[in-house]
Amino acid sequence: MTYFSDTIDTLNGILAGRESVYAVCDRNVKAVGEALGRCKGGRKIPVKYIDVSEKKKDIRLAAEICGWLLDKNADRKALVLAIGGGITTDVAGFAASIYKRGVKAAYVPTTLLAQVDAAIGGKTGVNFKEFKNMLGTIVEPEFTFVCSAFLKTLPENVFRAGLSELLKAFIIDNKDGQYQKALAYFGSINSSTQFQDSTLLLPHIQRAVQVKEAIVAEDLYESGRRRVLNLGHTFAHGIEHLSRRRRLLSRPVEISHGEAVAMGIVLAARLSRRLGLCGEDALDEQLREDFIACGLKPDCPFTPREILKAARTDKKAEGEYIHFILPRSIGDVVIKDLSINEAIRAME
Ligand SMILES: NC(=O)c1ccc[n+]([C@@H]2O[C@H](COP(=O)([O-])OP(=O)(O)OC[C@H]3O[C@@H](n4cnc5c(N)ncnc54)[C@H](O)[C@@H]3O)[C@@H](O)[C@H]2O)c1
Repeated sequence: MTYFSDTIDTLNGILAGRESVYAVCDRNVKAVGEALGRCKGGRKIPVKYIDVSEKKKDIRLAAEICGWLLDKNADRKALVLAIGGGITTDVAGFAASIYKRGVKAAYVPTTLLAQVDAAIGGKTGVNFKEFKNMLGTIVEPEFTFVCSAFLKTLPENVFRAGLSELLKAFIIDNKDGQYQKALAYFGSINSSTQFQDSTLLLPHIQRAVQVKEAIVAEDLYESGRRRVLNLGHTFAHGIEHLSRRRRLLSRPVEISHGEAVAMGIVLAARLSRRLGLCGEDALDEQLREDFIACGLKPDCPFTPREILKAARTDKKAEGEYIHFILPRSIGDVVIKDLSINEAIRAME
C-alpha cells in the first residue's frame, strides 16, 4: 500500500491507533523523526537516529538496530518505521525482516530515489565485503508513505540522482507518454528551488511508483518480468564497484548510485544498438541528451570492458550469463542473456 501526500500530517492519521511503532531515522532528516516522535496521538514514538553512508550500510548497522529493538522490548507486533533515503529504508527494512524472525516494516522515504524506487517493491539489504546489497531479503512493507514535501531539503545533486530512477521507470513503461511529460517538466527546471512545487512534482513520482508496483505485483521474487527494473543496473554496479576500488587506491571518483544508473542506462542502450535491437535511431545518444537536459551526468569515466569485468559480481549473474536489460525504444525493453565476453565484444 502506498500513500501519496504533500504534507506529513497525513502520516499521523495513518499511524493513529497503531501500537508498537519504532522509528529508525536518518539523522539528516531529524526534523521528520522529531515531528513524528511528538505527535502520534500525543504518545511518543521511540526513534533511533542513524548516520548513513554506503560504508555504514552493513550487517553491523542492521545488528545495532536489532539490538535497539531488543532494548526497547519490541515484540513480534512491532512496526519498524524507516525514515530516510534508500540506505535507511534498505537497512532498517532488513533489520525488521530478521528481528525475531521478521516484524513488519513501513517506509517514509525522504529522497526522490527512495520514493520512486528503494522504498517500493520489498527489497531490503546491506552491503557485504565490497559487494552492494549482497545480503538482503524481499518482504513487502506494510505501507510506504510518499510525501513530496520532504524533498524540499534535498541537496540538488541528491535530488537529480533520483531522477535517473524516475526516468528509468518511464523508459520501461511509457504509458500516456509519461517519459516525454517528465522530460518536459524536469528538463525545464534549472535549480532545486524550482522543484519545491510539490503539486507539480507529486504526479510524476506517483506514476513512476505505479510503474514499479505493477511490475512487482507480477513478479515479487524477480524470476522474470521484474528483471526489467534492473535497466542500467548491471553497468551501474560495475561502475560503482570501480569507483569504490579507485577510492581504496586513493584515486577517488565519486559517483552516486543514481548517477551510475544514468550512465548504465545509456550504456545499455548502446549495447542494444550494437546488437541491432533498437533500429536505426541512436537511442543511446537520445537518452544521453535527455539526461543532460535534466541535469544528469551520463558520461562514464570507465571503459565498457572495465565496467563489464567489474560487473561479473552482479547478483543478477547466473553462471556465465547476465540478464541484460536492453531498451529497443522508449517504453520497450527486452531481457537478453549474454556472457560478459559477448557483451564486451559487442561494445568494442
Ligand atoms: N531496495 C531497493 O529496491 C533499492 C532500489 C534502489 C536503490 N536502493 C538503495 O538505495 C540507496 C541509495 O538511496 P538514496 O540515494 O536515497 O541514498 P541515501 O539514503 O544515502 O540518501 C542520500 C543522502 O541524502 C540525505 N537525505 C535523505 N533525505 C534527505 C532530505 N529529505 N533532505 C536532505 N538530505 C536528505 C541522506 O542523509 C544522504 O546523505 C543505495 O544504497 C541503493 O542500494 C535500494
